[in-house]
Amino acid sequence: MKRVPNTMFTNSIEEYNLEANEYSVGHTSPSNIALVKYWGKFGRQFPRNPSLSITLDKAHTSTRVKFSKKDTQGISLTFKFEGNEKTDFANKIQKFLESIVEEFPYLPLYHLDIESSNTFPHSSGIASSASSMSALAMCLCDFERELLKTKPSEEDFLNKASYIARLGSGSASRSVFAKMASWGESYELGSVNEFASPYIDFAPLFENICDSVAIISSGEKAVSSRAGHALMENHPFAQTRFESAHHNIATLVKALKEGDFKSFAEVVEIEALELHGLMMNSRPSFILMATNTLEAINRIRKFREDTGTMVCFTLDAGPNVHILYPQSEKSTVLKFIEEEITPLTQGGLVIHDHMGNGPVKL
Ligand code: PMV
Repeated sequence: MKRVPNTMFTNSIEEYNLEANEYSVGHTSPSNIALVKYWGKFGRQFPRNPSLSITLDKAHTSTRVKFSKKDTQGISLTFKFEGNEKTDFANKIQKFLESIVEEFPYLPLYHLDIESSNTFPHSSGIASSASSMSALAMCLCDFERELLKTKPSEEDFLNKASYIARLGSGSASRSVFAKMASWGESYELGSVNEFASPYIDFAPLFENICDSVAIISSGEKAVSSRAGHALMENHPFAQTRFESAHHNIATLVKALKEGDFKSFAEVVEIEALELHGLMMNSRPSFILMATNTLEAINRIRKFREDTGTMVCFTLDAGPNVHILYPQSEKSTVLKFIEEEITPLTQGGLVIHDHMGNGPVKL
């Protein structure tokens, strides 16, 4: 297994040229949907098991940061979300930045004006922490590259962005890479715990795969992912789950390489149901599916059985249903969604997305 030394992501203050008084940078970064889920963590936000996700395209966060030199020491920032100051988010970012001063030792010398917006509704169940923390990490690493006397390679730059994103939100580590990404120690994938890696070993069938998100309920999450990960600590099935994730990664990788949609669908659906099963069996227990989540799942399975269409579902830690299908099935599946799934959604909302190319500099 690759071991990543702690020093890989730290530089001494002498390695920076700190003459810049002001620097502005912007990045968009997408959300992602996990096919094999990360659920359970340890230490400094390390995953208990490897995960693999599709990087989305349309569902993304745009973040702009203006860094201004100041005389006082200490982390200081203002944060606006879609034009409005948000003190609760600002406090979270403040804590996050304070936790990464070792990685960015010059950060206390600058004031940060951060502005952010999402292309998708806040409580749509699309992972906004993945897109927002990866967009912020890209901006922080961009500024660092500007200051460093010796510039990092593109690979080192992205690895650090993924490492920093991970410290903000584990799943955000995967959003830094185009198409698909894996994260967490895995013999199968050759990936590590510290940062995610691009995953591109998939058959043409999966190129540009579609993800239509049926919004069953846009309410607040019943359990935050932080609390959810914590529930895995004394979970009666924890060990079985971590082993099962490794097994599911192996099956998924084989299905992706061989273009085998049947095995892909089987393992992706089992992963979603395992995640929800774990929450149902936690102490306290949570049922995060709604009645229409189950109805949508049953309709997707029946449609697949009746017509042979390549379509399957996955779920995040909430009631909304991600419907996955290859580009070649698009017109058939869109018709099915409109007729059978849209009536199950809140306000007829289905967000159509697909595999994307990762963050973009603004
Ligand atoms: O990145 P977090 O801490 O919000 O955890 C995300 C966990 C899941 O979305 C449920 C699964 C995953 O791998 O994205």
